[in-house]
Amino acid sequence: MSKTQITLSINGQQVEALVEPRTLLIHFLREQQMLTGAHIGCETTHCGACTVDMDGKSVKSCTILAVQADGADVTTIEGMAAPDGTLHALQEGFAEMHGLQCGFCTPGMIMRAHRLLQENPNPSDTEIRMGISGNLCRCTGYQNIVKAIRYAADKMNAATKEAAE
Ligand code: FES
Ligand code: FES
Repeated sequence: MSKTQITLSINGQQVEALVEPRTLLIHFLREQQMLTGAHIGCETTHCGACTVDMDGKSVKSCTILAVQADGADVTTIEGMAAPDGTLHALQEGFAEMHGLQCGFCTPGMIMRAHRLLQENPNPSDTEIRMGISGNLCRCTGYQNIVKAIRYAADKMNAATKEAAE
């Protein structure tokens, strides 16, 4: 099958690649870019394990084609920690609040929570539950996941307040 050239930003790096028109973004990320943090669960837009951030929106990367990401700005879980390895507040929150067991859903949960906190920096627990309702966890129940996101929101809000003072 003939290939199409795409150019996009992934975790702040400019990437050029050739993809088949039928290639899904999740397969492009995992198999061509070796970014295996986004997981494949259902491949039917149901579970959210494949969630990444694209142009300021949470997207289920099993639902869109890589060619649709041409020109886009994509962030995956690999782009969340600081360059020196310092964990993002959400990564720290999931560790501190025991928001995971097997971890399969966690990259998608964190990427969705990342966008949720951009949209609403101080969500109520109900809003957190609504915000992650497209992401399923088979292990933990959601209580500790909600606590992890609350932990990150509080930490990020405290940092913003400190920076403003
Ligand atoms: S693998 Fe994409 S939503 Fe389940
Ligand atoms: S921690 Fe196992 S699926 Fe969520």
